[in-house]
Amino acid sequence: MDRIFSGIQPSGNLHLGNYLGAMKNWVDLQHDYECIFCMVDMHAITVWQDPAELRATTRELAAGMIAAGIDPKKNILFNQSQVSAHAELAWVFNCVARMGWLNRMTQFKEKAGKNRENVSVGLFAYPCLMAADILIYKATHVPVGEDQKQHLELTRDVAQKFNNDFGKEVFPLPEPLIFGAGTRVMSLRDGEKKMSKSDPSDYARINMTDDADAIALKIRKAKTDPNPLPDAVAGLEGRPEASNLLGIYGALTGKSLEAAVAECAGMAFSDFKGRLADAAVAKLAPINAEMARLRQDPAYIDGILKDGAQKAAALAKPVLDEVYEAVGFLRP
Ligand code: TYM
Repeated sequence: MDRIFSGIQPSGNLHLGNYLGAMKNWVDLQHDYECIFCMVDMHAITVWQDPAELRATTRELAAGMIAAGIDPKKNILFNQSQVSAHAELAWVFNCVARMGWLNRMTQFKEKAGKNRENVSVGLFAYPCLMAADILIYKATHVPVGEDQKQHLELTRDVAQKFNNDFGKEVFPLPEPLIFGAGTRVMSLRDGEKKMSKSDPSDYARINMTDDADAIALKIRKAKTDPNPLPDAVAGLEGRPEASNLLGIYGALTGKSLEAAVAECAGMAFSDFKGRLADAAVAKLAPINAEMARLRQDPAYIDGILKDGAQKAAALAKPVLDEVYEAVGFLRP
């Protein structure tokens, strides 16, 4: 059976990019696949995290997923550090992947910048842990935003090399699932920069915890250009902010970019922004309210994560056994 694995880092605020690029699709996929959704706290500590905040953000993220519509009874939902097989398989993969492969990872280059000598070893080895997350469950499909595509390619390379090195078809080559609209949500302040939790300006992103006023204000202040909206997708060429806002509108309302452009053709940004804010609030307000309700009940969230972790560990165990056997570890 086809099996989905996907992960999200509990580091900082959950934002519209995570929602449209990942979670919204997860909600749809849960009906057609066996799904495992993971809060990757071990990935989060590749850069410094305040321990108390990490715990709080992990719960908040779990609440966000449930509030967004992921059914914790139907799917496996847990935080990564509760299932030690991820780290164990990651170590084996550290010994399978090559330095040259990891050196090519653009996300590492972006995150390390000029500070290469001072970033953690974990940040460099990050893609091996990500490969382990996916392959410890022999997942066949991985829904992600555009920015994770290269990591997925590396996952396939690791799986392939492992199978070749040990002469056994242990791992499938997982397929990325990259959806249309919303796979690359850009900053509200700069249409050429990704919307991210690490952007110093809070006006660059819409957080899942923002209330209706904050959402409307951020959209009103979003960067635009002086022209009205075009009447065809081709007219978005060289207009990153217009492309981004129309892409967001399409993703929020379940329309293709073509349909969003046709609907808003010729509109002034000031009018369009009102329409966009209404769509964002309509989608996000119920999620926000449910998150607030779940925040009151941390024991419920912890119970779900514990239960999810037990189920995940049971799936991971035979795969790790198979890997250790293939590698030649003595297990009397
Ligand atoms: P993370 O935590 O940065 O993001 C989680 C998901 O949200 C998507 N995303 C976006 N999509 C569209 N526009 C944006 N601005 C935007 N920002 C984030 C990401 O593509 C991702 O799908 N390495 C991963 C986490 C991870 C993982 C995994 C994912 C660890 N192990 C295994 C899949 C499978 C990451 O840092 O995602």
